[in-house]
Amino acid sequence: MSDVVRIKKIIDEAYDTKTFVFDWDAETKPGQFLMIWIPGVDEIPMSISGMRGREKSITVKNIGEATDAIHGLREGDPVRIRGPYGNGFDTSSSNILVIGGGVGTAAVMPLTETLGCDMIIAARSDRDVIMEERAKACSGNVMIATDDGSRGFHGNAVQLMREAVASKRYDRIAACGPEVMLFFTYKACEELDLECELSLERYMKCGAGVCGCCVMDDSRVCKDGPVFNKGQIAQLTEFGQSKRDACGRLVKFR
Ligand SMILES: Cc1cc2nc3c(=O)[nH]c(=O)nc-3n(C[C@H](O)[C@H](O)[C@H](O)COP(=O)(O)OP(=O)(O)OC[C@H]3O[C@@H](n4cnc5c(N)ncnc54)[C@H](O)[C@@H]3O)c2cc1C
Ligand code: FES
Repeated sequence: MSDVVRIKKIIDEAYDTKTFVFDWDAETKPGQFLMIWIPGVDEIPMSISGMRGREKSITVKNIGEATDAIHGLREGDPVRIRGPYGNGFDTSSSNILVIGGGVGTAAVMPLTETLGCDMIIAARSDRDVIMEERAKACSGNVMIATDDGSRGFHGNAVQLMREAVASKRYDRIAACGPEVMLFFTYKACEELDLECELSLERYMKCGAGVCGCCVMDDSRVCKDGPVFNKGQIAQLTEFGQSKRDACGRLVKFR
């Protein structure tokens, strides 16, 4: 579905990250995403970071041309969106530990808000932590981790996850964040015999399973994902290793 929505509120989440709130009547699920059209610049994928009735939002980290153009939008401005796309997270159990790394926190926040489950918010530093108050408003156990120790647990998301799962048995981990974080989350889940669902990112053009830009092995991240479970991730040979850029070139992570 393609629609024009009007921005009704803009929230500053961090020095480089803003949330854009708008009304949109579509049915959406935690973990789904939209394609946001920026005329004359690009059309880019953005997770749906809020879904309260008809009020929806996206949360955008300013890293380049398209995201910078979105940051230039004002309340009242129109935006053309397509979606919702993707499969979304499993919401059948609330005994899950949700992990958000960096702006990936925005993609998992609707899951925490839907289930009221435990959550880890991980960031490089205190100034990069987003959405802590929103998480605390719906969850009784919100843990913060920063790489530099400027707030909360001194260490990364996976180190804190290992501590959390040592004291409580969860049905599943659900996470979104940088691929290196997701890779080590997956490795820890394998080792600990824990189920997981991870929301992956790949370069996308159509968002709807047609163009083939986002293919990993025989899965289209936009249509078969972006959320993949542990068994599916085990089949993705590019996961944690490489991704394709806008020209289709393979770029290695390490
Ligand atoms: C399903 C999905 C959901 C997403 N949800 C969000 C979200 O909720 N919030 C958000 O801020 N971003 C999200 N992204 C990432 C977002 O789409 C990209 O950051 C955006 O396309 C960059 O566009 P740009 O023109 O601003 O940057 P560009 O000019 O295209 O890129 C600037 C720099 O960032 C790098 N870059 C570009 N895309 C990515 C990427 N996907 N991951 C890491 N580095 C990248 C480029 O290599 C370049 O160095 C999501 C991506 C996917 C696939
Ligand atoms: S972006 Fe076109 S198939 Fe996924």
